[in-house]
Amino acid sequence: MAYLERQLDEFNPDLQHQFRHTLHNHPLMQFDELTKLALRNPQVRFHSAKLERTHRFDKVREEHITGLTLQETLDNIEVSGSFVYIKEIQKDPIYAPLVQEIYKEIQKDTSKFHKSISRVQAWIFITSPGGVTPYHRDFETNHYFHIKGKKTLFLWDPKDKDVVSQEENEYFHGVHSLAKTLYTEEKFKKASRYDLGPSMGVFFPYTAPHMVENGTDEFSISLSITYTTAEDIQVRRIHKINQLLRKIGIKPTDIEKQIKLVYRLKLGAHWVLRTIVFFALSDWMGS
Ligand SMILES: [Fe+2]
Repeated sequence: MAYLERQLDEFNPDLQHQFRHTLHNHPLMQFDELTKLALRNPQVRFHSAKLERTHRFDKVREEHITGLTLQETLDNIEVSGSFVYIKEIQKDPIYAPLVQEIYKEIQKDTSKFHKSISRVQAWIFITSPGGVTPYHRDFETNHYFHIKGKKTLFLWDPKDKDVVSQEENEYFHGVHSLAKTLYTEEKFKKASRYDLGPSMGVFFPYTAPHMVENGTDEFSISLSITYTTAEDIQVRRIHKINQLLRKIGIKPTDIEKQIKLVYRLKLGAHWVLRTIVFFALSDWMGS
């Protein structure tokens, strides 16, 4: 049986959407197995989840420690007020085959749009009741599978300039910083809300801003499969260059125009290359 059931006529990497999945029933997605994974995985992090929407996401790990050990945090997850995340579970020998199987299903849709995809990673998130993940963005595209408990996800369109300005994007990509990625009540009005339970999932377009509020009745578990496409890398490069231009006082032009121009230049370069190869081969065959 397939893990991923997309309720869409057609996948579009620019559009957020909800999907269904069956991973909540998988033995490796149960809390006891994930506890074992967390305790053997060097890529595990944890901190307080007693946070506000407005807290700086990138400062949480250092500014909101609980003083508990990982074992204490997990043993008391119902009351420890904590957030635990396990990075890069695709490197774990027990979890690697499962991540590959899920990614193969994702690839059926993404391969129509992207020539190459890199940095495929899988993450586990375990959150105490009432925990909050503040407003932030990540440098990836994300398939978010909710496994256990209830949570409310708020997700924004990363191309909405009222939410993400070009200048914020330049700082985010160019300086690799969330310092200008800030929550406001004005932005909140433009969020899409997803009330998630087990078997529900959401697709996040590349770098889409998001924020999560856990239900108060029970702790939750979610899985993310993230990746970066060749197109994402190109967008990132343009923002980086723009950030440098702005730094020296040059105001960059609209990013969408720049992306179209790069695409046309690439098509042009491809056509020139094909023409050169064609004439070289004609010449060689005629000689
Ligand atoms: Fe995130």
